[in-house]
Amino acid sequence: MDLKAQIQSNKLPNHLAIIMDGNGRWAKQKGMVRVIGHENGTKSVRDVVEASAEIGIKNLTLYAFSTENWKRPKLEVQTLMKLLVKSLKKEIKTLQENNIRLMAIGNLSDLPKKAHKELLEVIEKTKNNSHMTLTLALSYGSREEIIKVIKELTDKVKNNIISVESIDESIINKHLYTHNLPDVDLLIRTSGEHRISNFLLWQIAYAELYFTDILWPDFKKDNLYEALIDYQNRERRFGKTSEQLS
Ligand code: IPE
Ligand code: IPE
Ligand code: MG
Repeated sequence: MDLKAQIQSNKLPNHLAIIMDGNGRWAKQKGMVRVIGHENGTKSVRDVVEASAEIGIKNLTLYAFSTENWKRPKLEVQTLMKLLVKSLKKEIKTLQENNIRLMAIGNLSDLPKKAHKELLEVIEKTKNNSHMTLTLALSYGSREEIIKVIKELTDKVKNNIISVESIDESIINKHLYTHNLPDVDLLIRTSGEHRISNFLLWQIAYAELYFTDILWPDFKKDNLYEALIDYQNRERRFGKTSEQLS
């Protein structure tokens, strides 16, 4: 049966986040170098962005590079950055045609100059697009983000801009990289790893988690539909009882 047809358009996650994992293992299984896995991973990005826009997801956030990933072999890091530039150059047209806005979260100034510049350009060019917001997490670490928030808030308290008493969830949300995004509703991780790896710790407080063994370069539209159908069959209680919801 057509999976796409089973998705209810009124129950879509408002914010879908994905930990795209398994590129290296995908390549290794095929007797190829890790980088080939990353190259093929970009094809899945395309597929998933396209599918998300088609079905009407408003916010899609992809974990592309973590603060910890800087510890990888230099050549792999360089190749990932080159792939980023290449993809940005290649996909800008598709983003415009599909009215998709690009954003980025993370310590962007850590990116190589060329990648940083290209990224800011695409962000600027697509800033008025409104069909979907695609956010790339680049040099992103959730703990780093939370430390940034604490520093900014303590600074504001020190300078009497805000009071300690006024600190609440909404102020914290406003200082996160994700300040213009809603909470994550569904978090998908591919490749069989059951962990969060420092991704959006605050923002996934009530997210539904979906893990699949499929390696990222094999994750295609139908795999996304399966995850969405699974999500739509769950009861999100937010601490309440089932009876209270109905
Ligand atoms: C995800 O795939 C891509 C990045 C983290 C940049 P990996 O490169 O982590 O692939 P595995 O987990 O080693 O298979
Ligand atoms: C998480 O994947 C980061 C990204 C997908 C960008 P990793 O492969 O780096 O995570 P760990 O090291 O297995 O936890
Ligand atoms: Mg990995």
